[in-house]
Amino acid sequence: MAFKDMREYLSVLEEDGQLKQVDAPINCEYESNELQSLMRHLHETDGPGVVLNNLQGYNTPGIPVLYNPFGTRERTAMILGERDPLAAKLKHADILADQAKWQAPVVVDGTDAPCKQVVIEEADISLDKQLPHTWIGQEGSSYICGAIVVTKDPETGARNVGWYRLTQLWECRHPTGGSYTDRQQKQQLSIFAFWNPPMNHIGIHLAKAKAMGKPLEVAVAKLCDPAVHLAACTGTPFGSDEFAFAGGLRGSPVELVKCDTVDLEVPATAEWVIEGVFQPDADDVTIGWHSNSVGYYDKLQIFPVFDVKRITHRKDPLWYATIEMMPPFDHNYLGLMPVEGEVLSDLQRKIPEVKDVVVTPNMTYIVQLTVDGAQKPHPEFGKFVLHAVWGAAGRWGRTAKIVVVVGPDIDPYDLQAVEFAIGTRVQPYEDSIMNRSGQAMILDPSAAKGPQGFPMTGSQLGIDATVKIPERFSDYAPVSQADPAAVAAIAEKLKDVLG
Ligand SMILES: Cc1cc2nc3c(=O)[nH]c(=O)nc-3n(C[C@H](O)[C@H](O)[C@H](O)COP(=O)(O)O)c2cc1C
Repeated sequence: MAFKDMREYLSVLEEDGQLKQVDAPINCEYESNELQSLMRHLHETDGPGVVLNNLQGYNTPGIPVLYNPFGTRERTAMILGERDPLAAKLKHADILADQAKWQAPVVVDGTDAPCKQVVIEEADISLDKQLPHTWIGQEGSSYICGAIVVTKDPETGARNVGWYRLTQLWECRHPTGGSYTDRQQKQQLSIFAFWNPPMNHIGIHLAKAKAMGKPLEVAVAKLCDPAVHLAACTGTPFGSDEFAFAGGLRGSPVELVKCDTVDLEVPATAEWVIEGVFQPDADDVTIGWHSNSVGYYDKLQIFPVFDVKRITHRKDPLWYATIEMMPPFDHNYLGLMPVEGEVLSDLQRKIPEVKDVVVTPNMTYIVQLTVDGAQKPHPEFGKFVLHAVWGAAGRWGRTAKIVVVVGPDIDPYDLQAVEFAIGTRVQPYEDSIMNRSGQAMILDPSAAKGPQGFPMTGSQLGIDATVKIPERFSDYAPVSQADPAAVAAIAEKLKDVLG
């Protein structure tokens, strides 16, 4: 399954009724914007993706803004040609674990590349006019999201592709009363490096370049084939090429074109490309407020800036905006699929009885087993699985604050069902583990901050919600529940009355 570009994926969504054009005026100005409320409404109603064609208070009228395209597990699975989230997750995890299935990208002639149809040279750059700005919620700046960021390791030359947010500094509100220079506002961008524990890969490239006193070139490609985005937000091993992983996910190589002012390559079918350079002696900027993925505003963040050297885009480009806020929100599921895939592939290698790992938008980890009760390989098996999650390979398992293990009859995507299991199969004292030595999720505002200014350690709760046979009972009351096929049959029978 390979989409040529984001547009092809969007047309599949539109044909399926999952993407709508919105011509009503929507305000995107600082403080009076309607975009955060729109995100909440779309998620309360399980709503579609939208293309906002008539933004008000917008600096680039005529450039439509894509909003909430990935907002359900189904739409995220559709990136990989699936609808079922588990099928998509297993595909992702399988390709992630086996680099023989990756496909190296190919560099093609850039002359007719869609991403180079319009060129803005360095001397003409004025970001206030050329890049769309949308403010969301109470955020102090207009962020660039939906862009993958390409850099090369200054020591080895190995490429990294990551999905990181960028901050635009034009008309940005300063969180501590400072201001931004005209040059910062119109010719520079800031990037969310250093965030991800232990450090994201662009952060490692930047730290190396700084130590060597060298500039670091960067290329930002906005709105590519969605498989490229999925690859870019997956934690692949440092030094490996996410474009090659994306080739594996797509089943065919990603086509790249060379940038013009930096020695980097970007997907030919991107909507936008921004080329730039981080100078080793440039000062970092302070920005804020920033709304984060656990649902709180960070008052301020300090990030590096780069000089923009060139912008290219399509003739009729599309932009994308999003906000992280109290979950769920647009790209929750897209960001979570790699987390689920990472933990699932590691657990399945060691514990064949693991069927699925679901991470909720609020980051509770639910592990579903294929067995329960007497079929469990040994008493206390649920607790063994809890420890395995905290010890899983990759960045995420170790930061799982709440983990619940359930049997095969509990739908891990349905929190009401998970609550049923906790309420009827758990004795809190006996069936839970309180781990006092966990690694905190770095954004958790309830964990004490360490000397670095953010939390590194915190406590964790594991709940074994399996049926306690044989460890406590020899049999258990049967569940009183209707058969799903019989429910569907009665719904069909009464559809004229009940709708
Ligand atoms: C929409 C979206 C925005 C993200 N923004 C950031 C970000 O600003 N900084 C960051 O470190 N990770 C961010 N992430 C998570 C990273 O993309 C993810 O951890 C990825 O593995 C990082 O790549 P790396 O391992 O090559 O550094 C974001 C993910 C998504 C889906």
